[in-house]
Amino acid sequence: MTDTPASASPGFLELDWQGQPQRWPLAWLRDCCPCPQCRHPSGQRLQMEVFPELSARGELLAGDRLQVSWSDGHESTYELSGLGRFAEPPPAPVLWNAESLEFPEFDYHELLDHASVRREGLTRFFESGLLLLKNAPTAPGTLLEFVARLGGFVRETNYGKYYEVQVAENVSNLANTALPLEAHTDNPYRNPVPTVQCLHCLINETGGGDSMLVDGFHAAEDLRRTAPEQFRELTQRSVPFQYLDESCDLRNTVPLIDLAPEGGVQVVHYNRRSMRPQWMPPHQLESFYAALSSLRERLHAPANTFTFHLEPGDLLMFSNRRILHGRTAFSHSGARHLQGCYPDVDGLLSSWRRAA
Ligand SMILES: [Fe+2]
Ligand SMILES: [Zn+2]
Repeated sequence: MTDTPASASPGFLELDWQGQPQRWPLAWLRDCCPCPQCRHPSGQRLQMEVFPELSARGELLAGDRLQVSWSDGHESTYELSGLGRFAEPPPAPVLWNAESLEFPEFDYHELLDHASVRREGLTRFFESGLLLLKNAPTAPGTLLEFVARLGGFVRETNYGKYYEVQVAENVSNLANTALPLEAHTDNPYRNPVPTVQCLHCLINETGGGDSMLVDGFHAAEDLRRTAPEQFRELTQRSVPFQYLDESCDLRNTVPLIDLAPEGGVQVVHYNRRSMRPQWMPPHQLESFYAALSSLRERLHAPANTFTFHLEPGDLLMFSNRRILHGRTAFSHSGARHLQGCYPDVDGLLSSWRRAA
């Protein structure tokens, strides 16, 4: 048993645990109190106050438990091993190019029916940014059932809960033509930008129309390494995007490369179709377009582009914050019908945690 005097180090509780000296800030320790006065069985906090000025005495108990007596009379008992470990971080991205990508492919039914397969499939999804499910039913709307059974939530947009990708007359979106689509992320003109995209292939009888995938993080990190000034420019300059049709005028302004507070690339927004030119002083325009060109070169390098053919019953899910998708042109001779939707990433993370 170890007992510390309250005065040993004001504001801290210090004692040895598992042979290591520990130093816990008291305000934090009080915030962690799991007692029924402080925290509801649901895990939600009941005690809203912050206690920066209390003192406390601590005592280690058997079973890695810590007993703390506070100067306001409160008593707390902690399980030390889990203390403060709140979030299991999602699997870290594993960057890829066309050669290094191990394309994660799973059977649609296996993944939905078995938690262990779901866990593995979603782990691979968070690592590579994508996941291909084979043998999905080819009924229209299957993708909504897929997301619901996965435990995710679909973001509804002006396109509806899902949208059709098939050749049509008088389109407002080039996706609904037979034209090639340069690899892009979807809808940077929305706020918030969709985090994940599903594309479900119902029919693909055309010549051409191959799908292309690019790891935007890999391209951005390459730019950071080889042209750090241009990388910095693209992280610091916001770029306008717009989608316009008879019913809406959607606009958003975001940097092409968005950094997390810790400095890692967290989003790549890249869509030349919907990017709008903006006025800046001429020397800034010059350096911006040079940086844009450098990024584009890396995003479209053949070595970075993974190409494959979507078959009927294929359901592709990918991070719209990281993975660019595109397609080659296709012939008008056969039918091609895809459906797409935007599940939010938080529901998929939840599903990954619950499948553990
Ligand atoms: Fe798209
Ligand atoms: Zn408490």
